[in-house]
Amino acid sequence: MSDAAGNAMLRVEDVSAGYDGFQALFGVSLEVNAGESVAVIGPNGAGKTTLLRAISKLIGVTGGDIAMEGRSLKSVPAHEVIGYGIAQVPENRRLFPRLTVAENLKMGGFLPSARARHDERLAYVYSLFPRMKERSGQLAGTLSGGEQQMCAIGRALMSGPKLLLLDEPSAGLAPVVVQSIFEMVKRICAEGYTVLIVEQNIRQVLKVVDRAYLLETGRIKQSGPSAQLLASDEIRKAYLGI
Ligand SMILES: Nc1ncnc2c1ncn2[C@@H]1O[C@H](COP(=O)(O)OP(=O)(O)O)[C@@H](O)[C@H]1O
Ligand SMILES: [Mg+2]
Repeated sequence: MSDAAGNAMLRVEDVSAGYDGFQALFGVSLEVNAGESVAVIGPNGAGKTTLLRAISKLIGVTGGDIAMEGRSLKSVPAHEVIGYGIAQVPENRRLFPRLTVAENLKMGGFLPSARARHDERLAYVYSLFPRMKERSGQLAGTLSGGEQQMCAIGRALMSGPKLLLLDEPSAGLAPVVVQSIFEMVKRICAEGYTVLIVEQNIRQVLKVVDRAYLLETGRIKQSGPSAQLLASDEIRKAYLGI
């Protein structure tokens, strides 16, 4: 990979990927710098989840490459990606519903290096999300949607990641809860985490992140600072109903 463009934390370069003969991503390139919050916005079916799956190595790429801090992930198996400092909060949260909040959080810190710091990180997650401390003994399956998202993000933070990947954290939540989810994302960015978030909720995510890429049918169509995309005629007409 070329390093001509500087030393991005995450670099996705000309990536193509898909499923059994169906191509979902066509030469996607993007980068996320340390300390930045970046969104990939786009409609349902655009390939946002596929992109995150490719970064997490849950699916392979058929072209291009992905590198974290200059190290290619090409031959890295999915279970080792977390060792590169990448933690993903999957679509629909994927908590263990019959385990408690505390047990779910513990699952996020399973690496030996993370285990040693479990108590410290748990205290940190509880300080960030006091609600999770109050509910630590409650079964995750009985949490509200917003609380489940909080638990899923907390679980990802338990590995002490450098880069947090968020897959549509606002999906399926009531409008008032969506607001609180984006507040939470804002707080995580302010904590210094580097965040790559994919969202259909374009207006709200653009108010929270530094930069964004518009993904449509597997291709990046536009990119720039959030304010610029919010002001873009194309995005306003197609996605913001203005
Ligand atoms: N497991 C799968 N098998 C086959 N096709 C899939 C699979 N997952 C997603 N797709 C297809 O890939 C495209 C992109 O899907 P996805 O990445 O989930 O989009 P988004 O997250 O932006 O809604 C869609 O056309 C979808 O139908
Ligand atoms: Mg998706």
